[in-house]
Amino acid sequence: VTRADDRDSAPSAELLRYYAERAPDFDKVYARPERQGDLRALRNLLSRWFAGQRVLEVACGTGYWTGCIAGSAHSVLATDLSDEMLAVARRRHFQRGNVSLQRVDALSLEGVPKDFTAAFAGFWWSHVPRRLLPGFLRALNAHLRPGALVVFVDNRFVEGSCSPMADRTDEDGNTYSVRRLRDDSVIEVLKNFPTRRELLERLMPIGSDVQFVPFTYYWCVRYHALAGEESH
Ligand SMILES: C[S@@+](CC[C@H](N)C(=O)[O-])C[C@H]1O[C@@H](n2cnc3c(N)ncnc32)[C@H](O)[C@@H]1O
Repeated sequence: VTRADDRDSAPSAELLRYYAERAPDFDKVYARPERQGDLRALRNLLSRWFAGQRVLEVACGTGYWTGCIAGSAHSVLATDLSDEMLAVARRRHFQRGNVSLQRVDALSLEGVPKDFTAAFAGFWWSHVPRRLLPGFLRALNAHLRPGALVVFVDNRFVEGSCSPMADRTDEDGNTYSVRRLRDDSVIEVLKNFPTRRELLERLMPIGSDVQFVPFTYYWCVRYHALAGEESH
């Protein structure tokens, strides 16, 4: 078993290796019949919330949510560190021509402009090592206008629908999900399932109007970025 945990250095090469391999069929995760009701509700919320905004999307993957947000946003800069995931996103047709794609490390956001009015990250929070979360959240705020809307969406752990979890928690409280690769090898990917309380505790210091919206298979939080000190 290869362990895709953080070694205090970002990015995690193992996490990227996993997504490189998943890229061609990643979108199957959005075809699961039991999740369609939640997905429809989320798409409706996001297209309403991001209407007219200049959006920075972090870890956009294949661009599933990019397409949804770009339908109502002014523009979207969709970023990811995986060439393979970005290649799938580049093949997607974004109808309004208002999407740019850029290879960016979400944990540093180096090379990203700093004047967005909103930000979105889908299924990224769960992959951020707990000790890197405060720095990531501060760096994100530093790339947004004060008061910008920030939205995170991620998985709730649902037995039988989510990949099984490894039987370990590391010294920082990170948990690991067991994933099988195409060659039948097994990899452990850092995957956290924060509680509502943990999300609110993390976000209160850097956001206002923090709201948590639970679904059956997913959670969603939204807040407005407080003006913060530059983090780098
Ligand atoms: C679970 S996928 C989510 C993709 C997309 N947001 C979605 O919701 O469909 C996680 C994404 O994080 C990307 N990723 C992993 N490490 C990253 C890093 N350090 N910086 C930016 N993206 C990263 C992976 O390439 C992958 O596309």
